[in-house]
Amino acid sequence: MTPTRQGLPGLLDTEAIRKDFPILDRQVHDGRKLVYLDNAATSQKPRQVLDALSEYYERYNANVHRGVHVLAEEATALYEGARDKVAEFVNAPSRNEVIFTKNASESLNLVANMLGWADEPYRVDSDTEIVITEMEHHSNIVPWQLLAQRTGAKLKWFGLTDDGRLDLSNIDEVITEKTKIVSFVLVSNILGTVNPVESIVRRAQEVGALVCIDASQAAPHMPLDVQALQADFVAFTGHKMCGPTGIGVLWGRQELLEDLPPFLGGGEMIETVSMHSSTYAPAPHKFEAGTPPIAQAVGLGAAIDYLNSIGMDKILAHEHALTEYAVKRLAEVPDLRIIGPTTAEDRGAAISFTLGDIHPHDVGQVLDEQGIAVRVGHHCARPVCLRYGIPATTRASFYLYSTPAEIDALVDGLEHVRNFFG
Ligand code: ALA
Repeated sequence: MTPTRQGLPGLLDTEAIRKDFPILDRQVHDGRKLVYLDNAATSQKPRQVLDALSEYYERYNANVHRGVHVLAEEATALYEGARDKVAEFVNAPSRNEVIFTKNASESLNLVANMLGWADEPYRVDSDTEIVITEMEHHSNIVPWQLLAQRTGAKLKWFGLTDDGRLDLSNIDEVITEKTKIVSFVLVSNILGTVNPVESIVRRAQEVGALVCIDASQAAPHMPLDVQALQADFVAFTGHKMCGPTGIGVLWGRQELLEDLPPFLGGGEMIETVSMHSSTYAPAPHKFEAGTPPIAQAVGLGAAIDYLNSIGMDKILAHEHALTEYAVKRLAEVPDLRIIGPTTAEDRGAAISFTLGDIHPHDVGQVLDEQGIAVRVGHHCARPVCLRYGIPATTRASFYLYSTPAEIDALVDGLEHVRNFFG
């Protein structure tokens, strides 16, 4: 039986929350109400984050860690204050474990390059193996392919089951004594699957491999505790969690960050420089060459304050209720096939699907004409589409301001798509 949208348990007060997001009042295509269901691509930004960004530029703008004047000190305090907020948000044991990057892709590339240039015991070379999965975003595939090509290391991966989960049946053959690093996504951006971190980490620890987790689709949606995950590195991005673009995070265990070499060289990542050689500043600064994304970090700090004011547990419960409702409502649409888990258990709030043989780009275009924004394509996870024998999917993804009424609009919109294409 389809649950009524009034009866959904755990929903947030979206009427109040939506007032914080000016863009959600927009109309598109001659007065159609915007239904924004593309949150896995990027989230919208609340007024509190927009205000923090303009206040930073209007009152505090200066370079950080360089000047002795008031603005430089205030800007530095704001930038480093944002690091404190991130550290607390992910329960990092130390603020020095939080590296600011420009996005999750840069964070993952940083890990791959640290290991590529490292000495023993971390060094990835032709005697070693790198393990990823078939459900990774390209940002957690290509850096490892590049590293494997450069070092001669062997790239291995976990395949997928028919219902969109990791096939860990051969875990002992995939992760072996030769494995140096296992890098995998916590919540898939295309399938929505939430992966079983514990089993993978346990096996990696048995063989002494490092673990890197791509938490880009987790950090915005659920409480994230890097100590509980027991990983060595965790990467995520700011723009999917109400923050601005241009700011990402790499959390890494302190002793690793002390031992591993920098990837980018430049200003402010050094201790001393001569014409012959340089020594490096301690982490995290060793990994933040050049002028960092200062305003963006401040904006991310404001986003974290905003999310904390709602509560990550409550955001998770809201999205779970919405996802459960969406999965049931989408099952009513003839010819619709969900690509990924078909129950709300163990899945995030991004739902990919195909609609008969209508091309997802056509689905997306007809939905857009009705004011409904979804993403179509391979979602930067093309191996997943290859695995399921489809060229692309349509993806609807929800966030703390999404409503059951928007899911109803999507289902009605899909009916219209079906009628449109006969
Ligand atoms: N990685 C983002 C997505 O999945 C852009 O849409």
